[in-house]
Amino acid sequence: MGTVSVAVGIVVGIYLLRKYRESKWGKCKSKRRMEGKVVIITGANSGIGKETARDLASRGAIVVMACRNRQTGLEALRDIRTTTGDGDLIVMDLDLGDLVSIRTFAANFLEKFDKINVLINNAGLFVPPEERRKSKDGFEIHFGVNHLGHFLLTHLLLDRIIATPESRIVVVSSSLYKSGKIDFDNLDADKGWDTKKRNSLYSNSKLANIFHSQELAKRLQGRGVGTFVLCPGFVYTGLSRYTAPKYNWFMKLCFLPIMFMFMRSAKQGAQTSIHCAVSEELDGVDWAFVTECKVSKLAKVAEDEETALKLWDVSMELVGENGTESTEEGVLIDVETSPETDNGIEDDAVMVEK
Ligand SMILES: NC(=O)c1ccc[n+]([C@@H]2O[C@H](COP(=O)([O-])OP(=O)(O)OC[C@H]3O[C@@H](n4cnc5c(N)ncnc54)[C@H](OP(=O)(O)O)[C@@H]3O)[C@@H](O)[C@H]2O)c1
Repeated sequence: MGTVSVAVGIVVGIYLLRKYRESKWGKCKSKRRMEGKVVIITGANSGIGKETARDLASRGAIVVMACRNRQTGLEALRDIRTTTGDGDLIVMDLDLGDLVSIRTFAANFLEKFDKINVLINNAGLFVPPEERRKSKDGFEIHFGVNHLGHFLLTHLLLDRIIATPESRIVVVSSSLYKSGKIDFDNLDADKGWDTKKRNSLYSNSKLANIFHSQELAKRLQGRGVGTFVLCPGFVYTGLSRYTAPKYNWFMKLCFLPIMFMFMRSAKQGAQTSIHCAVSEELDGVDWAFVTECKVSKLAKVAEDEETALKLWDVSMELVGENGTESTEEGVLIDVETSPETDNGIEDDAVMVEK
């Protein structure tokens, strides 16, 4: 009897502790509807992106799910449709590790939609550095997909975002940015990486996300675009798909209590993204770093305007957009290259379901 009572006490205690932790996690309180608003979410077939798509569709938005895998994109769309009949959901092909795919997506999108109310740069991956994986264009995979892919996508869509009143750009970063470093002499990690950290290449790309948002906001000042960068917290999603196979069942078993105590569901993890996309509290705000659905302060490592500017220039060069001219207002918005004519794009990234 005594043992049973102790066991029950432990289980109830753990459950209450979990509930207490959940009560501290941010929750988007906005009830704002999004009828007629066009939202792009990268990586919307899984995890945080999928739950963000579900929420925004339920608010009536037209949600473009920009996914690299059409099949899983459609499966996610159908799953979202089991919980809401509101909004429109559209899957479009986008591989952020392939500059041609990004240009094709942007060209197709701009042809079909005349506005972008919210762009959510959500997609991301976390790959063991020792795999030395590269993007299709030969960039270190985290730098190439998490940063450069979104950098080019945002750049190609920027005119349309600016032309849409009260638009927003939401960048999903991670608190791991704090251990990131932008080493311009080793962006491709060919000279190695910091092996003392769990995945310094991921952290570097998440710091790059923050610098990108800061430099964007600077260039967009007075243009009616809010740029928000966020950390979603520690969330149970598919992000560990490339690292999980390295752990045996015993390690996974040991990890279970940590998961139970500290990890959010994808729906809980999507709250700050949703808040950044819809909240009235952010109306008229040019830039903010947001955690737990609240404006937060960045660590010192991300307060470096010089690096942010240099990263912008280097990224423009790497994605082949360095010919873009500044406007009179000092904003780099003029995408001179026509994607359809200059980049050998085939029109194969289509809108596949509505
Ligand atoms: N989970 C966490 O604890 C956590 C913490 C902090 C920050 N974040 C950030 O949250 C964001 C969402 O991640 P998640 O946790 O929801 O993980 P997830 O379930 O793995 O979702 C990541 C999404 O990104 C997509 N993606 C990966 N590479 C891509 C590419 N080359 N082109 C287009 N899409 C690509 C994935 O598509 P596929 O399914 O086709 O691979 C997937 O849809 C990421 O930016 C991540 O860094 C997550």
